Amino acid sequence: MTDIPDLFQGDRAHTSLYTDPEIFDTEMERIFYRTWVWVAHESEIPDPGDYLTTHVGLQPVIVNRDRDGEIQVHVNRCRHRSAALCSDRRGNAKNFPCPYHGWVYGLRGDLRGVPYPDSYGPDFKKEDYPLRSLRVETYAGLVFATFAREGESLREFLGDAAGWIDLFMKQGAGFPVRVAGEHRFRFPGNWKIQLENTTDAYHFPVVHRSFLDSLDAQTEDLFSFLRGDGYVRSLGNGHSVMVMIPELVDLESNLDAPIPDRFAGLADTLRRDYDEDRVRRIVRAVGGTGFNLNLFPNLACSLSFFRVLRPISVEETEIRHVALGMGGQGPPAANRMRLRLHEHFQGPMGFGTTDDAEVWDRVQRGARGGPDLWILLNRGRDAAEAGRPGSQGDVSAETGMRAAYRMWQRMMTP
Ligand code: FES
Ligand SMILES: [Fe+2]
Repeated sequence: MTDIPDLFQGDRAHTSLYTDPEIFDTEMERIFYRTWVWVAHESEIPDPGDYLTTHVGLQPVIVNRDRDGEIQVHVNRCRHRSAALCSDRRGNAKNFPCPYHGWVYGLRGDLRGVPYPDSYGPDFKKEDYPLRSLRVETYAGLVFATFAREGESLREFLGDAAGWIDLFMKQGAGFPVRVAGEHRFRFPGNWKIQLENTTDAYHFPVVHRSFLDSLDAQTEDLFSFLRGDGYVRSLGNGHSVMVMIPELVDLESNLDAPIPDRFAGLADTLRRDYDEDRVRRIVRAVGGTGFNLNLFPNLACSLSFFRVLRPISVEETEIRHVALGMGGQGPPAANRMRLRLHEHFQGPMGFGTTDDAEVWDRVQRGARGGPDLWILLNRGRDAAEAGRPGSQGDVSAETGMRAAYRMWQRMMTP
């Protein structure tokens, strides 16, 4: 067999990247267990003791706040005989007792108590059996964890993507961004099909025809971005950004522009409580940013939500759509409208995600045919580009995908 890293060749990827279980296992080892993986938004665990359960690659983890308010990430596995400690999605805990034989761990992962310890003899030391903990760093409220004990900092890993995260967070309109809720679903396809999709503008007018048909003319025009000045840019380390609506890159610029008709009612409601400047800032933020930011390997920041992917097997992926709102004293009317917009496209009954899921499923089914063929990623390729950081293509160029696969190749090279 060809070496795995050679299965990406600059502007094409071999079909086995979607179908080969051995490649999938290698991806877990070399990518998900080595790099920074997004695990939570800080607002999901605001208080000491708060926790949630999620995964890094295939490994179950607990993300929690300790008594000092610091965020910890531990593998959700008892050191005795491996029972999972937490089974709830989220909660608040003083400590983590194991349900099997009662070993108890502190919020920082230290083994605190062992029932009937005498039988272990004098050499048994609790210090030898803490939970396995991951390295944790945050940026702008985003919490990332890595199994790598040392290596580049999160800030180094994010590189040029950090400035785009700052822009994305302007959707708080001055209020703290908070997670407003989420829904999850699985699709029978490889995780990279989803990774590619975040910066794929090319599919939009085809797959999302029903969404476009459901919009008023003004909004439909806004979302007909294949004809506009949008672009895709590689940001280094596999990250990329697809700007669909350039005038909505910086939500705080050009606030004097006319308020779109669909937000007129909301603006009137907000005027009861806020001055005109603030109203405009909030209204602008409600529609979300005009770009999709793809953070390798598992997080997309899009409009006003996160799309989080979790690989389950070579042919199965879980997606979480995390809706974002304005926290603190954020205006309820704005948050309500945010959720309605979210439901319209991303929701379980929405016009967008259901259609996306259908084509992702079809990609995987089709990939069983012609297993020796290649997946084409050459749209908008400039000979000098080769997915390099800073390279840029028009909005429907496959620049973002090439950037991600270039990182994939780098990490898959032993
Ligand atoms: S498996 Fe956890 S205490 Fe035995
Ligand atoms: Fe889509």
